[in-house]
Amino acid sequence: MKTIALVTGANKGLGKQTVRRLAAQGWTVWLGARDPERGAATARELAAGGADVRYVALDVTSDESVQAAVKVLDAEHGRLDALVNNAGITGGRVAPAETGPDDFRACYETNVFGPVRVTRAFLPLLHRSTRPRVVMVSSGMGSLAVTTDPKRLESGIVSLVYPSSKAALNMITSQYAKALPDIKINAVDPGYTATDLNAHRGHKTVEQGAEVIVRLATISADGPTGGYFDEDGPLPW
Ligand SMILES: NC(=O)c1ccc[n+]([C@@H]2O[C@H](COP(=O)([O-])OP(=O)(O)OC[C@H]3O[C@@H](n4cnc5c(N)ncnc54)[C@H](OP(=O)(O)O)[C@@H]3O)[C@@H](O)[C@H]2O)c1
Repeated sequence: MKTIALVTGANKGLGKQTVRRLAAQGWTVWLGARDPERGAATARELAAGGADVRYVALDVTSDESVQAAVKVLDAEHGRLDALVNNAGITGGRVAPAETGPDDFRACYETNVFGPVRVTRAFLPLLHRSTRPRVVMVSSGMGSLAVTTDPKRLESGIVSLVYPSSKAALNMITSQYAKALPDIKINAVDPGYTATDLNAHRGHKTVEQGAEVIVRLATISADGPTGGYFDEDGPLPW
């Protein structure tokens, strides 16, 4: 039986590379993207070599869009084996002293409420899998330990919005893992990766950044849950 996966925000960057890698293992991979033209074009590109990559419209900020995606996967497979909550935005950089509540809203809608909206909606399909797993694409910026370690690059980036959105996602991951012991749910930090998110300033390639996402999406039955990992192993929260 083929493994069925869904990756959100997968028309470019780390999500696209994750789709490519998961499909290369012979999985059926649904490429979720909010823009139909760019999403379908990327799915066609990745499927060109024979991989089973399919586009599904999915805006993580919209209940309607997420419910429609659930219907598509339910009708096609009746289950979901691996969900990768990858869609994310920085929300812009405003100096902490200038940041007000409105500066958080768009970022939290995508990075925090998005993964919750998508995960909750797909739980019935995940529960029908024999080995369900969820990967939350977090960031080292979401770790209190990493962002206060002067040896880490992340300690030099001072902002209220994006780091706190990923810290919230980390806690949500940990709580989900306790609440849903039948599903393996882990958070990952891909590392500073050259994508549109950082105007391609990241020092890692998408091939390198996606590695840990793929690793946790493909974990074995005795693999971890409720953890937080980068390419070198467990990260401090
Ligand atoms: N790059 C890094 O250094 C780095 C480091 C740590 C963590 N991360 C995390 O990795 C994930 C992927 O980021 P990336 O670097 O690959 O950035 P990216 O190239 O900008 O890709 C982000 C993806 O998210 C999608 N997206 C944004 N809002 C969405 C929404 N409402 N619904 C559906 N999709 C939406 C974007 O779609 P559109 O094209 O339509 O905007 C795009 O496909 C993010 O969660 C990010 O926080 C990245």
